[in-house]
Amino acid sequence: MIETIKNIEIEVNNFEIINEQSLENFRLQFLSKKGKISELFEVFKTVSGEQKKEVGKTLNELRILADEKFNSFKVNFQSSQNKNSQEMDYSLPVNALQLGTEHPINKVKNEIISIFKTIGFSIAYGPEIEDEWHNFSSLNFAENHPARDMQDTFFVDKNPQGNFALRTHTSSVQIRLMEKEPVPIRSLMPGRVYRNEAVSARSNCFFHQIEGLYIDENVSFADLKQTLYYFVSQFFGEREIRFRPSYFPFTEPSAEMDIFLGTETEQDYRLTKGTGWLEILGCGMVDPNVLINCNIDPEKYTGFAFGMGIDRITMLKYGIKDIRQLFENDIRFLKQF
Ligand code: PHE
Repeated sequence: MIETIKNIEIEVNNFEIINEQSLENFRLQFLSKKGKISELFEVFKTVSGEQKKEVGKTLNELRILADEKFNSFKVNFQSSQNKNSQEMDYSLPVNALQLGTEHPINKVKNEIISIFKTIGFSIAYGPEIEDEWHNFSSLNFAENHPARDMQDTFFVDKNPQGNFALRTHTSSVQIRLMEKEPVPIRSLMPGRVYRNEAVSARSNCFFHQIEGLYIDENVSFADLKQTLYYFVSQFFGEREIRFRPSYFPFTEPSAEMDIFLGTETEQDYRLTKGTGWLEILGCGMVDPNVLINCNIDPEKYTGFAFGMGIDRITMLKYGIKDIRQLFENDIRFLKQF
């Protein structure tokens, strides 16, 4: 047995390692599970008692020898590889750090805010995790309204003390404002909202809304129309607008507002499905029940509210075809704005 070990020791010493391939061959021949040294360890199991000590020692020495040879060559190859990669041309220009730009959604949001600021609207924010009262009940949603369903809403906590959900619209901020601010209220409420919807080019499970609320004595539908008309003229330029009757639990009457794009360009034709009209926002007179829920006297005060999707308007403004691009944070996309 000792003799076999010595022979293999000679083989190990004579094995010429000149490149990575021969290093690998060395490993396979001697060190791998089926290599010669492992085989010797198998044989070693059968060695009789009095020989065990000496054979074991010699065999261990062989293993250490082979290991060391393997490792020293491995390190050599690695460091020479690094050396190659270090041979760089230091005169080449560095990759410039890519700076971000203002996100198109923020750009559009700020533009909308600045238009409404000129006519006296302040800005208000609210929490993104809402209780059921602020997101639904106070806004006059019936107990069995489908929007309360798991289909549309991401509930974070359902328990007997109350349900909490990611807000499905910024209308919850209306309630928070009316609960704590004295009337008159004239405010704009931007924020991120969440709905349990399949993600596609046209809809995402989160997006951004901006909502407006005006409560005072003698606020009428004419004020709502004029305010929105002013906004459209500032943001889109002089355009025709129209109101279509609609339904929201928290406004009565309710309407959807369209702007006229026409059908001259292919894109306008596609966006308006050939009608020339494009829906921009939902709006209406605040339902008296909502005022009562916030301890505001509906006999004395009236108000209007409106809400629009910032993402949608951003897509319109810049001709973005896929909403997902807004959230991928690809610097090549973002740099265009
Ligand atoms: N909250 C409504 C929505 O999410 C929009 C809206 C706001 C409608 C205010 C009317 C008044 O679709």
